[in-house]
Amino acid sequence: MEFKKVIVELLSNIISDFPENEIDELIEIPSNSEMGDFAFPCFKLAKIFRKAPNMIAADIGEKIGSSDYFSDIKIVGAYVNFYVNKKKYVESVLGNRDAINGKLDCGEGKTIVLDYSSPNIAKPFHIGHLRTTIIGNALYNIHEHLGYKCVGINHLGDWGTQFGKLIVAYKLWGSKEKIEKDGINELTNIYVKFHEEAEKNPQLDDDARAWFTKMENGDEEALALWQWFKDISLKEFNRIYDMLDIKFDSYAGESFYNDKMDVVIEELDDKGLIKISEGAKIVELEDDNMPPCLITKKDGSTLYATRDITAAIYRKKTYDFEKCIYVTAFDQNLHFAQWFKVIDKMGYDWHDKLIHVPYGLVSMESGKLSTRKGKVIYLEELLNESIEKTKQIIEEKNPNLKDKEEVAKIVGIGAILFNDMYNNRIKDVVFSWDKVLNFEGETGPYVQYTYARASSVLRKAEYDSKGESINYDLLTDDLAFNVVKTLQRFQGVVVDAAEKLEPSFISRYVVDLAQEFNRFYHNCPIIVDDMELRNARLEIVSIVRDVIREALRLLGIKAPEQM
Ligand code: ARG
Repeated sequence: MEFKKVIVELLSNIISDFPENEIDELIEIPSNSEMGDFAFPCFKLAKIFRKAPNMIAADIGEKIGSSDYFSDIKIVGAYVNFYVNKKKYVESVLGNRDAINGKLDCGEGKTIVLDYSSPNIAKPFHIGHLRTTIIGNALYNIHEHLGYKCVGINHLGDWGTQFGKLIVAYKLWGSKEKIEKDGINELTNIYVKFHEEAEKNPQLDDDARAWFTKMENGDEEALALWQWFKDISLKEFNRIYDMLDIKFDSYAGESFYNDKMDVVIEELDDKGLIKISEGAKIVELEDDNMPPCLITKKDGSTLYATRDITAAIYRKKTYDFEKCIYVTAFDQNLHFAQWFKVIDKMGYDWHDKLIHVPYGLVSMESGKLSTRKGKVIYLEELLNESIEKTKQIIEEKNPNLKDKEEVAKIVGIGAILFNDMYNNRIKDVVFSWDKVLNFEGETGPYVQYTYARASSVLRKAEYDSKGESINYDLLTDDLAFNVVKTLQRFQGVVVDAAEKLEPSFISRYVVDLAQEFNRFYHNCPIIVDDMELRNARLEIVSIVRDVIREALRLLGIKAPEQM
């Protein structure tokens, strides 16, 4: 941004021993604008100049002179506070719409691999999987906005001993018709029955292991059944992905690595990392204060970690990633720490480009479980319930709305997503309908409503951006100016969100923007007779609308034109 550059120039004339990029990094935006629009703290300079920070600030104050970019430069303690020339500032921000929310290029030429959603075949898609799905999707969009090439991988849980169990269960108690009809629910039923029966009859476990070994050896019957379970599950998962409008670039799940693990196990062996323990192959991680990483069981079958190690090596070769990001609940922290360490021990210097992004759990507000099954909250039911409830709210608030169904879908789904991504991801989410669907709180519906309001004003005024002909002098009052300052923050927020892998930065930001905009909107009539003033205010409305839409889009949430 132009203004920061001018500050760097002004300062580097005085403190020429201090590198310009470091000056740039130190510049802050005070949260209280009485302390200036930008501030430069002198604490870091104290060591170099061997002087107290406030003395340095005072020195700078004497030498800095003036610039037409700033209406005032004041020294307060150890800070140099800069007050911008408001007209110039507003013009420089609003005059370059593309810079406000256009795609950036900091990621150009680099690839980010994102591993997210990754549900397990034959198991229900529950509310925990919602978080990995939408956080992963948001991180994908955020990185793409920064110019990275992104590869979204759904690492399906479609391999492992549980499929041996499922085959045994199917052969003993399964009904083809029932499974075709009830899908994952019925697969879960027979899977649960397997566990009940296996407690009484351990032979069942041996049978299951034998069937999984058959799968690993390419047995036709075993693989046909497995493929069928997979097709049935994917049909249900895809229904949810369609509802959320989420796509993946690859569905290479755990089974994809079946024929790629042998060489990796050999490599581990050649590098002297494998130890045999009670017939199993393990990598010791004692020095790293972790339990050993299990590579094969004593019957030779592979594990979750074996497939992750193999997948990482494959992905590095295939995509040459800058980062490979894994989004799962925090209860897998140890799993990732262990096999990341194994990659390190194998001598791969890219081990630090593997990044686990953990998140907290979701629970329902006590006593208000909405689903039949009790503990497991099925996502599809939850989304449908939200759409239903939203429909009722619309029916009360705005019964004549066009496309009620479509709007209810956008708002109902958006509300759940927004709620899920509003807090730092590591925090647990307590789900409460009153909070999620509150149109006035810090919620998805509130932001969407602000968007719809802005759209409606622009429609009424038949406004088409006037760009250069705007009189920016008319937007220097506090209310308009605060909106402009908030707009200017957007790109920095996206950069920070990528760096910290935190979609919540974007949701917090867009609530700020909506609040700031609503203050402006309620106090400054937009469609006034004075056309110069009207156009200036409409220009703000139009840019705010674009930025809200882009922020929501990054979060995977749609913006309704009316609601
Ligand atoms: N299928 C796993 C689960 O549902 C998540 C997989 C995460 N990705 C990975 N590469 N391990 O818990």
